[in-house]
Amino acid sequence: MTDYKQISKAVISRLPRYYRYLGELMEEGIERISSNELSARMKVTASQIRQDLNNFGGFGQQGYGYNVKYLYAEIARILGIDRQHNLIIIGAGNLGQAIANYTNFEKRGFIIKGMFDINPRLIGLVVRGAKIRGIDDLEQFIVENEVQIAALTIPKSKAPEIADRLVKAGIKAIWNFAHTDLSVPDDVVVENVHLSESLMRLSYRVCSMQDERERREKGQLS
Ligand code: NAI
Repeated sequence: MTDYKQISKAVISRLPRYYRYLGELMEEGIERISSNELSARMKVTASQIRQDLNNFGGFGQQGYGYNVKYLYAEIARILGIDRQHNLIIIGAGNLGQAIANYTNFEKRGFIIKGMFDINPRLIGLVVRGAKIRGIDDLEQFIVENEVQIAALTIPKSKAPEIADRLVKAGIKAIWNFAHTDLSVPDDVVVENVHLSESLMRLSYRVCSMQDERERREKGQLS
C-alpha cells in the first residue's frame, strides 16, 4: 500500500471537494475525465489538480485522463471513509440533535452510536435511532461500542473537562464545535468546526467588495 503520510495538509484539505465532484460525475455516468474538464467544473486550475492528484501516483494517464470510479474509491480510502467510524455526540441540544438528524454522515461511514447529556428531560429520548444517555455512562459506552470519534456540542465552559474524560476513555478524535481550543495528547486529533468564524470570513469578503464598489463609484463621480 502506498505511504500517504507525506502528503501536505493543504492537499488533504482539498480531497473532500474532489471526492464530492467525482461522486457527482459517477451519478452522471461519466467514467473518465481529463484534468482540464475537471478544472472547468471545479474552477481550480488543471495544474493544481494534476499536482494534487499526482501525490497519490498512477491515477491519471496521458491521453486518457482520470478513471472516475477508481479515483473516487482511492480518495475514499485515503480519507478513511471506506471504513466505519463509530461516533458519539456529547450535548444533545440544538446542534447535537441537528447533527444526529443528518443522514448523510452514515453514508460516509460515520455511525452515530449514541448521544450524551446532563439534562434529565433529554435523557432517554431517541434521535433518529441514537439514544440520549446520561453523561455518567460515557466511559463504559465508549469502551463497549469501540467509539473512535466524539462530537462536542456542549457549552465551551464544559468542553475541557469532557475532553479530558474522552481522552482517558480512549477516544482518538474530537470533532469540536464548542468555541474553545482543546489541549489533548499528540495521539488524539481535534478538528474544530466554527460556523461563526466562517461567517466572519464571509463578512470580511462582502465588506471588502462593498468598499471596493463604493471607492469605484466615488472615483467615477469625482
Ligand atoms: P444547547 O443549549 O441547545 O445544547 C447544549 C446541550 O449541552 C444541552 O442540552 C446541555 O444540557 C448539554 N450539556 C451541558 N453541559 C454538558 C455536559 N457537561 N455534558 C453533556 N451535556 C452537557 O446549545 P446548542 O445551540 O446546541 O450549542 C451547543 C454548543 O455548540 C455551544 O457551545 C455553542 O456555542 C456551540 N455552537 C457551535 C457552533 C459552531 O459552528 N461551532 C454553532 C452553533 C453552536
